Amino acid sequence: MSSSHSVTKIVNVCGARPNFMKIGPLMRAYQAYEHLDPILVHTGQHYDENMSDLFFRQLGIPEPDMNLEVGSASHAVQTAEIMKRFEPVVLEYEPDWVVVVGDVNSTIACALVAEKLGVKVAHVEAGLRSFDRSMPEEINRLLTDAISDLLFVSEPSGLENLKREGIPGDRVHFVGNVMIDTLRANLERAERSTILEELNLEAGAYNVVTLHRPSNVDDAGTLGRIADALEVIQQDLPTVFPAHPRTCHNLTRLGALGRFKSMGRLQIVEPLGYLDFLKLMGKAAVVLTDSGGIQEETTILGVWCLTLRENTERPVTVANGTNTLVGSDPGKIVSAYRRCRSTPLTHPPVPEKWDGRAAQRITDVMASQR
Ligand code: UD1
Repeated sequence: MSSSHSVTKIVNVCGARPNFMKIGPLMRAYQAYEHLDPILVHTGQHYDENMSDLFFRQLGIPEPDMNLEVGSASHAVQTAEIMKRFEPVVLEYEPDWVVVVGDVNSTIACALVAEKLGVKVAHVEAGLRSFDRSMPEEINRLLTDAISDLLFVSEPSGLENLKREGIPGDRVHFVGNVMIDTLRANLERAERSTILEELNLEAGAYNVVTLHRPSNVDDAGTLGRIADALEVIQQDLPTVFPAHPRTCHNLTRLGALGRFKSMGRLQIVEPLGYLDFLKLMGKAAVVLTDSGGIQEETTILGVWCLTLRENTERPVTVANGTNTLVGSDPGKIVSAYRRCRSTPLTHPPVPEKWDGRAAQRITDVMASQR
């Protein structure tokens, strides 16, 4: 389905919190090309004010042209619902391209709809692999890359993975990291955030924790082991825990909330906006997380990151960055934490092309497609 006129119509898809900082710089970069006609579709996978709207406002992302309002459900129901609601959009708008970012359910759902309607798909953040198929995101990444026509890669491992999977090289472009475009563009504004005062923290003298992976927060045993580690860590430094909605529900459901609340120097707070969280991360002593994006952001901020997972799809953050994989074993987490606390951090080298210009490289390629 290709439009006959000379304008290239591009439907851009976002749905969940980590998508917003990736789609923002792209929507801006399109403006340099008169013949590109982008629209923005929000699937509504995330919908709470501080999981969605706040990011649009803070990052100056244009209001979505459409919100499919799918909300939360099981993987099958959520993915199917996104597909059902996205298909009429593609049929009506008749784009030349659908651009999807990251690895969430909205990514694979919209890529699949587009490809089956004969619309070309571009995947931003292609090629990342954790080699752990128990992660829903790994399935989303593998399938999206298998059907995409253009694959925009953020780090060298992505190039190797796609080559090994037999993806033709002419579809693949190593462009760098759009999430880091957003980070670099907002560092100065984040500096003005008053979050440290609000939470009564001193720069360099606190830790940040984020947890939301099903493998960590859906299982009482794992959550208990992580709590054992945090118990020790918060005795060393005050520790802030902005809790994702999935995590909040599960802390209550699994009866673990009391344990976390009883830790005197651990503060559980609501999910924060982009600027406050960037400031909080940038001034932390150590960040403990299971997020993908935070492994990358701490690498650029030059802050120690302990990843509470057995694997990462972002190995450049371990090889070049500040990241260490520690899993969920309390002994391992605490000893890695102590190592961070006793080792001065010299600024790590910046991964190649994480220079704030990834979106421009992507739109250059998009603009040259006919
Ligand atoms: C999703 C992505 C994950 C990403 C994460 C970032 C998939 C498979 N997972 O996981 O890759 O790292 O987003 O946050 O796409 N909820 C709310 N308000 C919201 C959104 C969710 O309360 O605005 C609650 C709901 O109870 C929901 C649960 O959080 O059931 C989980 O949300 P969901 O979008 O299914 O997955 P995430 O864990 O957020």
